[in-house]
Amino acid sequence: MRYLFLLSGENLELAKAEVLSLAKAFGKILSYDLDERIFSLNFAGEQFFERLALSHEVCEAIFSCSMSELQKEFEKLSFEGSCCVRVSGIGMKSDQELEKKLGAILWKKGAQIDLRNPENLIRVYITPRSCHVGFLRFKQNKKQFRERLPNKRPFFMPVVILPKLSRAILNLVSLKSGRILDPMCGTGSFLIEAGLMGFEVFGMDFYRDIVKGCRKNLEFFNLKGEVLQGDVREMPFKDESFDGIATDYPYFRATRSGTKDELYNKSFQEISRVLRKGCRAVLVTNLELKELPFKVIFKIDHRVHGSLTRRIYVVEKFENVPE
Ligand SMILES: C[S@@+](CC[C@H](N)C(=O)[O-])C[C@H]1O[C@@H](n2cnc3c(N)ncnc32)[C@H](O)[C@@H]1O
Repeated sequence: MRYLFLLSGENLELAKAEVLSLAKAFGKILSYDLDERIFSLNFAGEQFFERLALSHEVCEAIFSCSMSELQKEFEKLSFEGSCCVRVSGIGMKSDQELEKKLGAILWKKGAQIDLRNPENLIRVYITPRSCHVGFLRFKQNKKQFRERLPNKRPFFMPVVILPKLSRAILNLVSLKSGRILDPMCGTGSFLIEAGLMGFEVFGMDFYRDIVKGCRKNLEFFNLKGEVLQGDVREMPFKDESFDGIATDYPYFRATRSGTKDELYNKSFQEISRVLRKGCRAVLVTNLELKELPFKVIFKIDHRVHGSLTRRIYVVEKFENVPE
């Protein structure tokens, strides 16, 4: 089955990586292509759209064609039930009249047009290169992310990753289910998203008050999760006990928990130790990291403002970890 994802423009690379990571976890990726913000994915597997953060819509593709072929291709369309056609220009302005013209083609063929509550919402995305047509199957609930904004939670700290971005980053672990750890969990942005997606949630932070606050935040969303006070440099977990790790390093040079280099080096060893073989960790930092003791699958930068760019490293442990 081919699907069309209308990606959010905030970070196209991340939006695309999110779709691919989820698709890998839920089935088999056959091929893909990006045209402006339309990501076309040939995929065999289970549906995962509710998990997405950085896709606005998902359609089941009907066809893609050039602008000159669009009306002719529309004449060939056949489906059961009422319909409505919605056209959007992506990376360009769309012709306002096109929606009516395409609707009229279907009406002349005998289709029942229902603009309010159609059984088939036919989406037409027009890019400078192509036209992509599909049945709408998923529309993002943007309100959910606003409702989980950090200032709406009982425990708040500045410089946290917002819910939508937290979910997209977490999805890069490429897991359908399992045990997720954030060993520097702060207010719990990753843990909240992980809990809402049905993962088993484990968090840890160096500071007692932060641990208490994070627990309150999880309770606020009716989520179960174990949050411990502890040090990422020496974690109280058994080897290979997690299926995925997502964590956001402190944005300061020296912490009460040691120097920056010591924090990074020791945490890498520990993250590698507690992560299961073949599983991913997503490490977020404001620093460019060199020579990571992991296999780096990919890295994506996310610019927040002039003086803060988050670097998102998606890593796997090496098959043979040196003693
Ligand atoms: C950038 S914040 C994480 C923010 C988090 N993603 C959130 O949603 O609030 C980094 C966190 O790392 C914690 N931290 C710093 N050093 C640590 C250590 N050695 N072990 C565990 N946690 C540590 C800090 O207390 C802080 O809460």
